[in-house]
Amino acid sequence: MKIDLLSPASFADGQPHAQYRWLREHAPVRWHDEPNGPGFWAVTRHPDVWAVDRDFQAFSSEPSILIPDPPPGEGQGFGPYKMMLMMDPPEHTAFRKLIRQEFTLPAARLREDRIQALARQIVDAVIGRSSGSWGECDFVAEVAGEMPSFVIAELMGLPLEDGRELYKLTETIHTAPEALPPGAGGAAVAKMFEYGQGVIAEKRARPADDLASKLLACEVDGRRLEDMEFLLFFLLLVDAGGDTTRNLLSGGLLALMEHPDQFAWLMADLPARLPSAREELLRWTSPVIYMRRTARKDVELAGQPIREGDKVVMYFGAANRDPEVFEAPETLDLARADNPHIAFGTGPHGCLGQHIARIEIDAMLTEVLTRMTGFEVAAEPEWLPSNFISGPKTMPLRFRAAQH
Ligand code: HEM
Repeated sequence: MKIDLLSPASFADGQPHAQYRWLREHAPVRWHDEPNGPGFWAVTRHPDVWAVDRDFQAFSSEPSILIPDPPPGEGQGFGPYKMMLMMDPPEHTAFRKLIRQEFTLPAARLREDRIQALARQIVDAVIGRSSGSWGECDFVAEVAGEMPSFVIAELMGLPLEDGRELYKLTETIHTAPEALPPGAGGAAVAKMFEYGQGVIAEKRARPADDLASKLLACEVDGRRLEDMEFLLFFLLLVDAGGDTTRNLLSGGLLALMEHPDQFAWLMADLPARLPSAREELLRWTSPVIYMRRTARKDVELAGQPIREGDKVVMYFGAANRDPEVFEAPETLDLARADNPHIAFGTGPHGCLGQHIARIEIDAMLTEVLTRMTGFEVAAEPEWLPSNFISGPKTMPLRFRAAQH
């Protein structure tokens, strides 16, 4: 089996499940060459991904969670500053503590009504644009992408329209550099920082009850955050919650359309069946393809010796179809009761936004599935050219407004 987990072409129709299957069966911790780098270990079985993600003593998030290394001598590429996602405890713990309270389950629940209202507003807009009984939309940009862009804007206390612009930048940042004009990724990060500088000025002048103002007011090691530290939090939050949630929603709807029996089962009692369905769609789509770690010492993983300094890459989508952990893993089973998927990762970096993400997903699926019906693919969905984030880039759909 030809294994290539780097080329965006391998992800052009979704995740490479045939490769994942071969790797899990034949070489669960396998060396993978890298054209412009030293290579890495690809980890594909659930218990091994789980173990690597939790063992920060052996597997560091520095210098990067992306496979390519930052240029030598440049830290993470932000001078002496680091993004929380690429820190290890105890430094990581101190930074995560600054925003943890905003993302607990009770805090997320307080946002539920507002998120449901946003979901209604988003679906109203596409239904309102439809002519006669049939409507058409790009589900990715006009429906799925709207929710995370609005939610991040609300969290940060920004105009909803700006959330939309920031989300477009996220998409560029997560696209494989080969698929972009030269320098486009860097330019998108620079734009995000420029916008973030404006947020700093605005929130310092007029602090409000939002996460941006709170972050600017809080202290780490007895001092206020520096501008660059704030900007890296800003970049992380906008990036992490944007196309992940969007891809779950559009990839999830596509999976439902491809499995009409499952779709019908869900619709027979949506409120009761949504929780297990949502978890199964997370397992099935696994929007974050991988996270990388770097061995801090010589270790062994599933019998494979790993040398200090080696890159170790966890493939969440592969782990989420491990037959040792999931019964009939290649079957979409929305009623799956025992579903220990790791689409949100685990360990110290486990997704901070997962409670909010679940509320967003439930609100959007409820609105979309009860108010829109008769979905038909108007043109083949085009997948993101990315080996990091998986999901349709565009998904033109025809639908009818549901009659109640
Ligand atoms: C379906 C939606 C989402 C998926 C699949 C997802 C997935 C992930 C994954 C796999 C990680 C890395 C975990 C690890 O290394 O073990 C992560 C981290 C993170 N996510 Fe999410 N995420 C989603 C939505 C969100 C949302 C809505 C937010 C915020 C509003 C968010 C904020 C974060 C943050 C801040 C981190 C970094 C945590 C840290 O470094 O301590 N995510 N997410």
